Parts: sequence; C-alpha cells; structure tokens
Amino acid sequence: MRIALSTGGGDAPGLNAVIRAAVLSAVNRGWEVLGIKKGYAGLLGEEEVIPMTAATVRGIAHLGGTILRTTNRGNPFSYPIAQPDGTFVDKDRSGELIENSRKLGIDAVISIGGDGSMSIAHQLCQLGMKIVCVPKTIDNDVAGTITTFGFDTAVNTALEAIDKLHTTAESHDRVIVLEVMGRNAGFIALHAGLAGTADVILIPEIPYDIEKVCEKIAARDRSGRHFSIVVIAEGAFPKGEAPAIRGKSMPGQAVRIGGVAERLADEIETRTKKETRSLILGHLQRGGQPTGYDRLLAVRFGGAAVRAVADEKWDHMIALQSPHIVSIPLADVLKVPKRVEIDHDTVLTARATGISFGD
Ligand code: F6P
Repeated sequence: MRIALSTGGGDAPGLNAVIRAAVLSAVNRGWEVLGIKKGYAGLLGEEEVIPMTAATVRGIAHLGGTILRTTNRGNPFSYPIAQPDGTFVDKDRSGELIENSRKLGIDAVISIGGDGSMSIAHQLCQLGMKIVCVPKTIDNDVAGTITTFGFDTAVNTALEAIDKLHTTAESHDRVIVLEVMGRNAGFIALHAGLAGTADVILIPEIPYDIEKVCEKIAARDRSGRHFSIVVIAEGAFPKGEAPAIRGKSMPGQAVRIGGVAERLADEIETRTKKETRSLILGHLQRGGQPTGYDRLLAVRFGGAAVRAVADEKWDHMIALQSPHIVSIPLADVLKVPKRVEIDHDTVLTARATGISFGD
C-alpha cells in the first residue's frame, strides 16, 4: 500500500500533528507514505513529492504551520496559468494530476484541508481517485464535525488579545474594536468574545445596526463603564449590506474579505464621541503552537484517517462527533456550510449576560 498526504488551503495549527500521526500509523502498518508538497502542486510537477518516514516527522507535533507547505490557489480544476501578457487563464489540470498520481503508484490520498480542499477531493473521487479528507480550518465552518483543529488555538489567540485590550481600554476610557478571522462564519468572534466578556460581538450570521452598537457603548458609559470592547468577525456587515471585500486576491484565490474594524471604529467615534481605536488580529490567529485540545484532535484525526483508508472509506471525511471520531460522506459535508446558529446556547448566554450583537 502506498498512500500520499497533502495539506491544502490556509494553514491551521495542528497540521503537523495530523501529518505525524498519519505517517506513523501508516508506516507501522508496513505502508509506504509520500508527501505531496504545497497542496496538489507536487502532483502537477510544480513542487516535489517526497518520501515520508518516521524520521521525516520526528519532533513536529507541537509546531504550527505544515512541513508539507500549503496553498489556497492550487485548485487543479481551475489552475491559474500565467500568460505572456501578464494575465492568468484558468486551466483544468485534474487529468494530469490523476495521471501523475497513477505513475507514482499512489493507492490513496489523505487530503487535509478546509471546504475548498474537500470540494476538490470530492470531484477527484468522482474521477476515480481514492481520497479520505481530514477537516482543517481555524474558522470551524465545516459541517458534520463538532469542531476542526486550529479553531481552539485561534480562539485562544483572540482571547489573549481581548484580555490585553481590556486593560488598556479601561485605563484610557476608550472603545477598542478587534477584528478576528472566520470568513463567513462568526465562530471565532463569538467564542473569543463570549469567553473574553466583550461588550459587543458582531458576526456575519447577525447583520448589525450601527445605532444599536453605539447605544450599547453609550449605555455602558452612562452606567460608569467608560470603556468598551467590540469584537467583529471579518465577515460581519451592517444590515442591508454585504461582507466587505478586502484588497486584491491572487490569481486562483477566493476573494479576500475583512478590513472592517477601522471603518466601524470611525463610525463609533463619530457617533458616540468616545475615543475609539481598532486592531486587525489577522494571521496571528493562524500561527504558532496548537493548543493541547487542537493537538489531541489533530492526532486523533490523523490516526482515524489511516484507519479510514484501510477500511476503503473513499470520498469520506473524518469528523468529531463526540465522544467518537467517525467518517462521513463528503457529499453530506459539502451540502451546507456550518454557520453560527442564532439560537445556539452561546448566543443566548451572550445576550443574557448583556453582550450586544448590534441587532
Ligand atoms: O479560512 C481561513 C482563513 O484564515 C480565514 O479566516 C481568512 O479569511 C482567510 O483564511 C485568509 O486567507 P489568506 O491567508 O489567504 O489571507
């Protein structure tokens, strides 16, 4: 048996722990393991495919990033090809990928990625490839699994920022707006904001009204709390608007969203006359050591992925359905993206403890 591992999409703390667990589980069964560098680029002749052994994965479980490297612009079904005039044209290179995989004698692939990687894997499975997916994203927006690894680390990073912002905001009687990642899902903002006792949490699932946001800040001021912490998810937007597009994306990359904190801070300052500052936490949320929770989840996912390969669970994704790790069809996972349920206990408790969602 010869399997290959690939990490695709944005990185997330815990990827190396999955890689280590999968490689060791496989080599201990007597299987050969290959590592495809940079998403699927290694299978398209643009990067290497390397042999992986116990030695290649030594001492990596606690490290952020991915030793295989990754990309969020390597979709083989629409691969951007540079033209002589500097423009890019998308080309379907899936046939080439499948052929190269066959030439390398790859029997099965473990693809560790988010919704984009899973949709690619699902399409490749329709063309005959044998793939098992492991869900990865700090955004926690993958359906069918209670959580993804990387999310807990990102929430802890955001929480640490909120704790630090509290002390300085309180000392200066300021409002501070913190923008966190999550694309179109508000999980990082909600979890970090609730745990960090933010005063306002703005998420894409609950479009906000700036008047309501300012009312909350003003009410705190009147009650003697002269500072406020506002946590906004990058994909959050005012009622009647859409998520903000942020700058230019690279060829083959999904549109970048976010960059909303500064505008919100300006509006709050104008309306409340309170000094307001803003901060975008950005890629700090994606870097660094995975938390213990994420590391354990990643290890469990890596081991389960190899068992799923042994059980020939092609076109499936490994998932946490506590207390068990299961595998579920990719078709089900891809039906609906996971979003914050607006009647979830976290939202209800946030409201009950006085946190405003700006609605
Ligand atoms: O999906 C993970 C994520 O970190 C999002 O939260 C964020 O919008 C996006 O990736 C950022 O991507 P990039 O690294 O390409 O800026």
